[in-house]
Amino acid sequence: MDKIIIRGGCKLSGTLPISGAKNAALTLVPCALLTDEPLTLRNLPRLADIDGFQHLMNQFGVSTTIAGSRPEDFGRVMTFEAPRITGTVAPYDLVRKMRASILVLGPMLARMGEATVSLPGGCAIGNRPIDLHLKVLEAIGAEIELAAGYVRARAPDGGLPGGRFSFPVVSVGATENALMAAVLANGKTTLHNAAREPEIVDLCRLLVAMGAKIEGIGSSDITIHGVKRLHGATYRVMSDRIEAGSYACAAAITGGEVMLAGAEIEEMEATVAALRQAGVHVEPTQEGLHVAANGALRAVNLSTAPYPGFATDMQAQLMALLCRAEGTSVLNETIFENRYMHVPELNRMGAHIETSGRTAIVHGVAQLSGAEVMATDLRASMSLVIAGLAAEGETQVHRLYHLDRGYERLEEKLSLIGADIERVGDG
Ligand code: EPZ
Repeated sequence: MDKIIIRGGCKLSGTLPISGAKNAALTLVPCALLTDEPLTLRNLPRLADIDGFQHLMNQFGVSTTIAGSRPEDFGRVMTFEAPRITGTVAPYDLVRKMRASILVLGPMLARMGEATVSLPGGCAIGNRPIDLHLKVLEAIGAEIELAAGYVRARAPDGGLPGGRFSFPVVSVGATENALMAAVLANGKTTLHNAAREPEIVDLCRLLVAMGAKIEGIGSSDITIHGVKRLHGATYRVMSDRIEAGSYACAAAITGGEVMLAGAEIEEMEATVAALRQAGVHVEPTQEGLHVAANGALRAVNLSTAPYPGFATDMQAQLMALLCRAEGTSVLNETIFENRYMHVPELNRMGAHIETSGRTAIVHGVAQLSGAEVMATDLRASMSLVIAGLAAEGETQVHRLYHLDRGYERLEEKLSLIGADIERVGDG
């Protein structure tokens, strides 16, 4: 297994390209099931999770072709063609490796009238139930059965009738499954308290480009008028707001100044507000987002929340930055029950963080020191990289497969802006 070695202390400076959004791509890819015409997605990030999804789609008889791109290019263009679906089962050995596979449930049900998907199970940050996915699909008219660790969904013979559902808890994935099931229903579906994340807007924009009829895009009340069929499309995946926020924290903690090319400030307001509160200079430009350290970092208090609140996916990265702030920050993780696994590892690097339940108290320290650390989940790994970039001495981050799921060619991008970082075999 590989590891990353970082020698801290380099001020990051220069331009870093932001890739397509992982969490948009993972819901745009399954839309290929909704049409028998080609779906071409541009700006797809080169990530392990996208490779995994491509493999899953191939299992269903979906052909995938990758347009020529030079090895040095970031991102790629992929065309999916599903004239016929030859399988409707997403097996355990694929789903357990990539829980976003649950997002084939809605589109497969809409296209084929049935879908069988292994229960994804939990992960490091929480038990990740899918009860809301199942409840909203039942509200749209599906019959749901759980057996032997699988979800089996069936539509009535005439197809899904449509319906209405009010989410008791905002759920990104359940909103996505509902949208992809409802677009081919016979009637109208209304969703209340739907997720409003920019990735949901990206999904709605792709579905509309394919011929879907959706009202209330970007709001928490969405109405979908089912249509008979959807046609193919060519669509560019939005830029990754979490990747951009992560690299903004990296630039700030090193006292550097970077241009995050392609980053869209409109989708990052809560992150930008937190960075500015921490004393970081952030300015949108034609090219993207200009981020510069601006003197000593200041403490920040905040709670994570569904969009437009501060993203839970940015909590670990901001915490790493706040380890070097003057004063004490208080963070509250309201979305997932176990999203502080980066804390013990940051403390091993000289941070001073206390946690109690969903609250983390981050006492700023004058210096972090390099150490051998273990990645536990995707965003926790990035927080360790951010700390390592500022730490005195050498940091080694193990279990890189976590990082590779969400950050395209991280060490190459960081080297572009002056980091002393290399990936080596773990031996
Ligand atoms: C998506 O996960 C993202 N993943 C996560 O990003 C992100 O942290 C999360 O949304 C919240 O923004 C992808 O888009 C692939 P949820 P998802 O359903 O859809 C509870 C990353 O680091 N819930 O919005 O699984 C759930 O337990 C990943 O890129 C239910 O109770 O998140 C959680 O407490 C991590 N029942 C809350 O809702 C359900 O049926 C929000 O979960 C579904 C969710």
